[in-house]
Amino acid sequence: MPTVLIVYHSKSRNTEEMAKAVEEGVKSEGLKTIRKMVNRATLKDLLEADGIILGSPTYYGNMAAEMKAFLDKSCQVHGKLEGKVGAAFSSCGGLGGGVETTVLAMVKALLIHGVIVQGDPWGSHYGAVSVGKPNASARKECKKLGEKVARLIKRLERVS
Ligand SMILES: Cc1cc2nc3c(=O)[nH]c(=O)nc-3n(C[C@H](O)[C@H](O)[C@H](O)COP(=O)(O)O)c2cc1C
Repeated sequence: MPTVLIVYHSKSRNTEEMAKAVEEGVKSEGLKTIRKMVNRATLKDLLEADGIILGSPTYYGNMAAEMKAFLDKSCQVHGKLEGKVGAAFSSCGGLGGGVETTVLAMVKALLIHGVIVQGDPWGSHYGAVSVGKPNASARKECKKLGEKVARLIKRLERVS
């Protein structure tokens, strides 16, 4: 069964709540998940996953240093993640606080790895976002993000 790795940083649990909703979405599509704080995630986790979803709080309009350090370390597996499916999500302190630039920073890293990232024409275009603790609407977007990643993995499996 395909596996989706959800790797995130979170200090006050807002991003963690988002990660749980993302996981719910992946599972609802029948795929296996591994949800890990970034300090516990390994390069082997990246290599073994069919999908990679990254989550970070917005820190100064960017991802947390812990996530950036993990991505810098992922240089050791550069070229080996190509063709996997990915996505990103972020929690911020306030509207206009740089949450989209944070999501895009993680999406950029995924793209550099050759990971396939699907946009969303209707909801959060770049990835799921939340101001503080995710409310019902943000949770729904997170769940949808997980579902979309899982569905794309299944679609790619069917054609390969
Ligand atoms: C070091 C630091 C920098 C932050 N920078 C921003 C920022 O640039 N914009 C913003 O909207 N919120 C900022 N915040 C607020 C966090 O993004 C927000 O509280 C988030 O929900 C925390 O996620 P967590 O509960 O998963 O740790 C910052 C918080 C910290 C601790």
